[in-house]
Amino acid sequence: MTVPASDRERAERLRRALEHHNRRYYVLDDPEIPDAEYDRLLRELQTLEADYPELVTPDSPTQRVGGEPLASFAEVEHRLPMLSLSNAFDEQALRDFDRRVREGLATDRVRYSAEPKLDGLAISLCYENGTLVRAATRGDGHRGEEVTAQVRTIQSVPLRLRDLEREARWPALLEVRGEVFLTYERFAAINARAQRDGAKVFANPRNAAAGSLRQLDPRVTAARGLSLFCYGLGAVEGAPWSESHSDSLARIAAWGLPVSPEQQCVEGVEGCIAYYAAMAERREQLAYAIDGVVFKVDVFAQQRLLTEKAQKRRKGAENRNPAWAIAFKYPAEEALTTVEAVEFQVGRTGALTPVARLAPVALAGATVSNATLHNMDEIERKDVHVGDTVYVRRAGDVIPDVVRVLPERRPAGAEPIALPAHCPVCHSDVLRAEGEAVARCTGGLFCAAQRKEAIKHFASRRALDIEGLGDKLVEQLVECGLVADPADLYGLTLEQLSGLERMGKKSAANLLAALDRSRQTTLARFIYALGIREVGEATAQALAAHFCDLDALIEAPESALLPIEGIGPVVAAHIQAFFSQPHNLEVIDKLRSPALGAITWERPAAPEDDGATVAATSPLSGKTVVITGTLDRPRDEIKARLEALGAKVTTSLSRKTDVLIVGAKPGDNKLKHVEEFGVEIVNGERLAELLGAWDARDHAGSDG
Ligand code: IVH
Repeated sequence: MTVPASDRERAERLRRALEHHNRRYYVLDDPEIPDAEYDRLLRELQTLEADYPELVTPDSPTQRVGGEPLASFAEVEHRLPMLSLSNAFDEQALRDFDRRVREGLATDRVRYSAEPKLDGLAISLCYENGTLVRAATRGDGHRGEEVTAQVRTIQSVPLRLRDLEREARWPALLEVRGEVFLTYERFAAINARAQRDGAKVFANPRNAAAGSLRQLDPRVTAARGLSLFCYGLGAVEGAPWSESHSDSLARIAAWGLPVSPEQQCVEGVEGCIAYYAAMAERREQLAYAIDGVVFKVDVFAQQRLLTEKAQKRRKGAENRNPAWAIAFKYPAEEALTTVEAVEFQVGRTGALTPVARLAPVALAGATVSNATLHNMDEIERKDVHVGDTVYVRRAGDVIPDVVRVLPERRPAGAEPIALPAHCPVCHSDVLRAEGEAVARCTGGLFCAAQRKEAIKHFASRRALDIEGLGDKLVEQLVECGLVADPADLYGLTLEQLSGLERMGKKSAANLLAALDRSRQTTLARFIYALGIREVGEATAQALAAHFCDLDALIEAPESALLPIEGIGPVVAAHIQAFFSQPHNLEVIDKLRSPALGAITWERPAAPEDDGATVAATSPLSGKTVVITGTLDRPRDEIKARLEALGAKVTTSLSRKTDVLIVGAKPGDNKLKHVEEFGVEIVNGERLAELLGAWDARDHAGSDG
């Protein structure tokens, strides 16, 4: 079938248009038309090519992703070796390089091309008569792997070079070299997807870029969204050519190849140093990773002279690093080390943060021996064991992070990391509430790590409102050892206070008066002041209104907390954990003791028609109860009901016992001391009455 001339022309025009818009979008980052318009043009070309297959050209924009997966990568020999760069890690090494260059050229000052050192992998692109014919990885510098099909999927790589006027045309054979890399955004998307699919997660963008390019199936490469910047030339034949590196980059950019917009020429070593510093600043704003900057003697004739001299010095031996270029590296931000131990630090709010103790390693210009593991979820997600080899990363001044474990290097018998049951600072229980990543110490009133925050909160306006006791003063009091918990505030004397720095007699007296005023408060404020996790003002008010009594709250089982508005299982767990810590109870007792804190509040009026009414007004409210003998319901159920009525149920009879509930076959031991301790006896019938009253009210409450 012959193709009508008009269709042939239309196909050619569409190809030119698509190449043009592709360059605007992917190379210049400056599109002229909406994506939908681009798609329309592409579809039109696809339709034409489907109607007339002979219209298809290998460099047609429709042919980026094509063909079957490869069986293996073919080997490619580079016409000119792909060299690497010498590195400078400090200014002195850079100055030494510049001195060698100046001596070699017998000149005072040299012009350098300065460019970012992209952290990806080197690639060679061969264009014959303007068409991309081959792409290859660096390999060992002499032989690499052919990845043409994969590189064709990189949208910024032109399949055909732009045609310019005669004297500015590309040479018949043009090899350009550059770096394939991934933006942070693409890298994150690839890893997010890998994580979702349970596939391998990459440690950094460079590994992900290499893994994406070396895919036998180019469709996989296409989906990864690789980028490319060209930074130099390889073999070139058959055209007038340029005199300098910077000019050659400008030319290849004009032919449609992507070149870093950060490239610029600088004068002398001082220009290099300034560029290095400026790039260090810009680095954070770049969308991709760079690990240094590269300086190249700009004038080709000077490059050649330096290469010849170096070759003479080396008596013709192979030169892997050109004498005319150097990479000035930024301090490494990622390093490999081992986890020697994991310790838990307690923060000022009681949060436990696992910290990895590492074998010391040089990282970003410092020696690093600690890294944060954030929380237990992170440890589980990264599956960190003591003894593991890990990647650590440091970004800016923050504490280094453990990025990833190398499971293949895990020694036999490596220990998984367990959350400690007790706070490493105060030994109170550690609570990790259901569904929460963060584990916390529950000894909020007592724990030395939480001291300052606990006291600041206790004194704050909506808590006990101790006027004049600001954050600074709290810190001062804790630091000089006068106060370790909120109760200690009430033991402060005028002498102690006026002895403090920046504290006059008058302010000291004012503070004592304010402390005195704070002694008369409300139950709601007091509960709020305790700083129980998740118990804000509203919850504190609800708790005060419901229990009317602090001891009833302290003893309340979960079943008595859950019916209260705003309290779910997590808040209930925090409340119970807080009151189950003996140290917290000690501080509360000190606060209430007439000899020390002497804090008091009026018993809140019992609300009407609320389950709490029962607890507050029941004859068992606040009573310590012991059960003996068999009753007509399970002991646990009776215990729960008694507790809901405000009773505290204990197992052994003592002088503190108020009531003994006696069922069938009571224990002799218990009855023996009844008279001596003055305990009231409640039999099964009376108990049924009391619980019945509860049942009736409970129903009235939930219906009304
Ligand atoms: S020039 C003859 N320029 O760094 C010089 N390399 O250690 C050859 N790289 O293999 C390289 N950014 O993969 C040059 N602007 C840049 C670069 C750069 C990254 C990589 C490249 C090379 C390695 C050298």
